[in-house]
Parts: sequence; C-alpha cells; structure tokens
Amino acid sequence: MADEQAKFGAQMMQPDLNGVDAEENNLRPKHLEDYIGQEKVKQNLKIYLEAAKRRGEPMDHILLYGPPGLGKTTLAGIVANEMGVQIRITSGPAIEKPGDLAALLTNLQEGDVLFIDEIHRLSRQVEEVLYPALEDYALDIMIGKGPSAQSIRINLPRFTLIGATTRAGQLTGPLRDRFGVLLKLELYSPDELAKIITRSAGILEQPLTPEGAAELAKCSRGTPRVANRLLKRVRDFATVLSDGVIDQDTALLALKRMDVDALGLDALDRSLLRAIIEMYNGGPVGLETLAAALGEEAVTLEDLCEPYLMQMGFLTRTPRGRCATRLAYQHLGLALPQDTRGETPEDNGQQSLL
Ligand code: ADE
Repeated sequence: MADEQAKFGAQMMQPDLNGVDAEENNLRPKHLEDYIGQEKVKQNLKIYLEAAKRRGEPMDHILLYGPPGLGKTTLAGIVANEMGVQIRITSGPAIEKPGDLAALLTNLQEGDVLFIDEIHRLSRQVEEVLYPALEDYALDIMIGKGPSAQSIRINLPRFTLIGATTRAGQLTGPLRDRFGVLLKLELYSPDELAKIITRSAGILEQPLTPEGAAELAKCSRGTPRVANRLLKRVRDFATVLSDGVIDQDTALLALKRMDVDALGLDALDRSLLRAIIEMYNGGPVGLETLAAALGEEAVTLEDLCEPYLMQMGFLTRTPRGRCATRLAYQHLGLALPQDTRGETPEDNGQQSLL
C-alpha cells in the first residue's frame, strides 16, 4: 500500500495525515453544512448527494473547476464523507502510464471516490483507459502483441471520479462529456473569508477579534487557502510581538511586514501591474511577454495573479493582451498616461475576453 502511494502519488485523505498536510487537513470542513460559501454549488451538490444516497448508487462523476485554492480537494473530501466512502487522491501528472491508472482503479472499493487533481494534465493514452472506466466501470486490457493480441475486459467496482482543474478549457471534449456534474467554484467574498478565518482560528485555538478577521479577509485574494496561510503567519506575529491575540492592529502590522497591501496584492501582483504600466505603457501586452519580463511562468501569472487582479478591476484581458486599468494606476499611485489620441487606460477600445 505504501509503495503504491509513493508510485502513483495517491493517498487516502484522512485526518491523521502527517506534516503540513495534517494541519491543512485539520482546517478542512468534513461536512457540507460546515463548508462556507459557494452557495449555489453547495445547494445543488446537496440534492445530488441525497438523491444518490436514496437510490443506493454512487454519485455521478463530478468536475470541479475554478482558480487554485478555492476548496476543490475539500469538496471532494466532503462528497466522500457524506457518501460514507473512502477517497483516493492523485493528480494528472502523477498518472504517467495507462498501467498506473489501471492499478489505481482496480484497488478501489465499491462506491469509492477517486480524486484526480489537475485532470487536464492527463496524457491521451491514460485518458483512453479512463473512458470505459467512467462509462461502463470496466477496463479494457490488451494481452499479447501482434496478430495474437487479445483484448479482455475487467469489471471495476462502481466508483465516482472527481476531477479538478483550474483550466476547464484545456479538457478534451470526450473527457468533459463524461462528467455528469460540472461545478464551477468562484472567488469568495470578504464576508465569507472572514467566516472561514474565524472558523480556522477556532480550530487552531487562536484568539481573533472580528476586526482582525475582517483585515485578514480583505487581503486573502478571494481564496481560503490564502486566508488560512495568512492566519497562520499573522498568528506568529501575534505570538512573538504582541499578547497573542490577532486584533486589527496586529493584523495590519503583520500584513505590512509580509508585504501584503491593503487590498491583498502581494509583491508579484504589484510587479505584474507595474510591468504592464511601466514597460508596456499600460498594455495590451501578451501573457508570455509579460511572464518573460517578470521571470515567471505564464501559468503562475494566469492562475495565481490574474483571477484576483481581474476581480478587483485592476486588469483586463483583451484579444491583444493584458491591460492595466485606471484603478491599477490609482492603486499603485502612478499618474495616468494620455496617449496621442487623448485616451486613458480605461477607454483603450479593447473588447474584454471575459
Ligand atoms: N477551509 C477551506 N475552505 C473552506 C470553506 N469553504 N469553508 C470552510 N472552511 C474552509
């Protein structure tokens, strides 16, 4: 079992995982009613779970998509928990060969959840093995080579695949079509994040005032993972520099020391906006060009920075590239340029891609 986990990067999600995982796992809600935010997703999921339970069937296959850190793994764990089954966690890049997937599938028990993170990164060969598994709970295996090769079919236990991706657009059509439930996760509001932070502080037995929670929530970029990470770091400042309580003052001091500004932008977000403004006159500039200028991977900017910068109205994506908005100039305290036609960044005539 341990060998298998090492080989396929698969693990069972249980509260007693060790190290960092254990701490993150501790903060994850185990039941739908404890999951804060994503109201639409939650309401529908509740119905699907109840229906599957009443019929005594496994849940249909689910695709969760949206920016990183919004709770896709947490939701998968909740589905397994609510259905009373085990979850096995792996990721697209960890399943290198069809045989790796076959080994994972044949080790599942009836009703189990198989969670594949970054499912858009599965190879085509592996995807081919997945199709009959999803549709017919079967594996087609070729035995032998050449003219004497034979295909045999192995029946699998009925299971639920939960796929997670930050890029639903990169999923192949045939794979996307095999999910019965598609759920899109959205960035969280500051109110929801304040509730998540307060809940996590309770689990960590960390004293926190409502004002302290609100400050952290404002700077969490719409993302529970960021919120929980900030909470843990600010807890360090509270422990060492003050009386151990996270109030508004401690939160503000810690955020400043961590280079997180009043709206939650970190050093990379600000570098990205500054590069568009100072190197490319406010844009448009292509993502790859921007990534090269910043010495970052394009996917890092696209997945980690852009969703929040767009939600805050600091960045637009246009057919010709990324543009900084008037708000971005104002936030960074930079003077708005006037181009030769007297246009400012807001009315640069670009049609938003979103
Ligand atoms: N921890 C991480 N995400 C959460 C959520 N949506 N609700 C409650 N706690 C969380």
